[in-house]
Amino acid sequence: MRFDIITVLPDLLESPFAHSILQRAKNKGLAEIHVHNLRDYSTNKHKSVDDYPYGGGSGMVLQIEPFARCIEQLQAERAYDEIIYMTPDGETFNQDIANGLSTKGNIMILCGHYKGIDQRIRDIYVTKEISIGDYVLSGGELPAAIVTDAIIRLIPGVLSDETSALSDSFQDGLLDAPIYTRPADWKGHKVPDILLSGHEAKIATWKHEQQLKRTQERRPDLLND
Ligand code: ADE
Repeated sequence: MRFDIITVLPDLLESPFAHSILQRAKNKGLAEIHVHNLRDYSTNKHKSVDDYPYGGGSGMVLQIEPFARCIEQLQAERAYDEIIYMTPDGETFNQDIANGLSTKGNIMILCGHYKGIDQRIRDIYVTKEISIGDYVLSGGELPAAIVTDAIIRLIPGVLSDETSALSDSFQDGLLDAPIYTRPADWKGHKVPDILLSGHEAKIATWKHEQQLKRTQERRPDLLND
């Protein structure tokens, strides 16, 4: 699966993909992440990519020309299944959206900055708008990294134990059960006996009960869904 991310701050996207599971996914050839610096597509001698908003108002707006040049150059090389714009106006990201996107081949992600991007980029090129929550960040880079991470870990073969993505919180509409590791007794704080029993069926029942209990307590809205 291939991701092309367009941004004015490419450095912000270096570290999130350089470690652990995402790094392994790249090394195994299961995911390719290409970060494009929007300024490289500016024809202006100062490499500027933004301008004042028509009609006034605070903040600068990213212009259509550099985005159009970059997007069209990429589209000339391959077809994209989705061109996603990261924005607080978008559909709120969740596991269902991640699952759907993990079956795609090529995804392009546009990161906004400053006041946002010219509306015409959204009208002409963007096929999906995603928000990571009801709060405003300084740009779309961290949201793009979050969405990319959530998708890549679902690609078959990325996680060493393939079942572990399926047992993630939200995959079955429930939060995860509590988990423990050694020691079994830490200063009198004990791991539940059932987990030490070796009885697989009883452990599975206990875990499911714990999932329901936790979801009821913390996210009853998920049960209503
Ligand atoms: N850009 C700024 N804030 C954002 C958010 N909450 N979600 C996605 N992109 C954003």
